[in-house]
Amino acid sequence: MRGEIEALGYIGLEVSDLAAWRTFACGELGLQWTQREDGAVDLRTDDYASRIQLHQGPRDDLAYAGWEVKDAAALTALASKLQANGHTVELGGEALARDRRVNEVIRFADPEGNVHEAFYGPLQKTNDPFVSPTGTRFKTGRQGLGHVVLSCRDKPAMMDFFIDLLGFRLSDHIRTEVVPGRPIEISFTRCNGRHHSLAFAPVPIPKKIVHLMLETSSIDDVGRALDRCMKAGRHLTFTLGRHSNDDMLSFYPLTPSGFDIEYGWGGLEVDDETWHVLTHDANSAWGHIYQRPPRPAQKENAA
Ligand SMILES: [Fe+2]
Repeated sequence: MRGEIEALGYIGLEVSDLAAWRTFACGELGLQWTQREDGAVDLRTDDYASRIQLHQGPRDDLAYAGWEVKDAAALTALASKLQANGHTVELGGEALARDRRVNEVIRFADPEGNVHEAFYGPLQKTNDPFVSPTGTRFKTGRQGLGHVVLSCRDKPAMMDFFIDLLGFRLSDHIRTEVVPGRPIEISFTRCNGRHHSLAFAPVPIPKKIVHLMLETSSIDDVGRALDRCMKAGRHLTFTLGRHSNDDMLSFYPLTPSGFDIEYGWGGLEVDDETWHVLTHDANSAWGHIYQRPPRPAQKENAA
């Protein structure tokens, strides 16, 4: 069953240190920074006016995920479906739509209380094309911004909501110890040709977001970003590797907010007609070696 949602359109993040994010996002990842008058920031990866919105605040976590539908009728159908199944839908109104750089937006929550938005009509900056400060090109288009992995406590409830109600398709599962000593099963779902736009990781972390994946158009873009991150002393939560399920060649720099970006190239495209759900027993074909996050520096001779 297909639903109305066709792509991950944008992500909103609440971050405490905008200056650190600017260094990371522009200097290392190659995103374009647009400062707003209200203090928020739009990060661009293509001709959409905004793909990642940074809002200053203490939580250092996901604020909302924005899902793209094709038109007003699809947005109305999605809202009706949510309401008919007992979910509260908030109409975003003109101010929120303007803030998100879209034509119309609605808000709702998933079973774990994560805030989601759905929209149509993203603003295109055709006469102000995306310019990466590092010359990076990102793979977006119909496959959307990338993918997001959410931490969850009740994975079956999350999968019921996104698959049975919203029409995401299950791609596969990975049963493994991503972090040594912690066996888990992560489940991956798609809403377009990208192998997954949304995955569920039952990991006991306080943050809602585990990572956001951005895909480049060239393997060299990943290599150059890796060089920049290493030169900057950026902690890599997972080293360079290739994933078992979506073939993504990627590494995972730790953001200034304490969650990861997956920065990759070469992700698999799924054909709905021929795809079979698989279960993998490894996260990666090679690489992606976990590295513990650095501890805050101890004060010497502390009184
Ligand atoms: Fe990922």
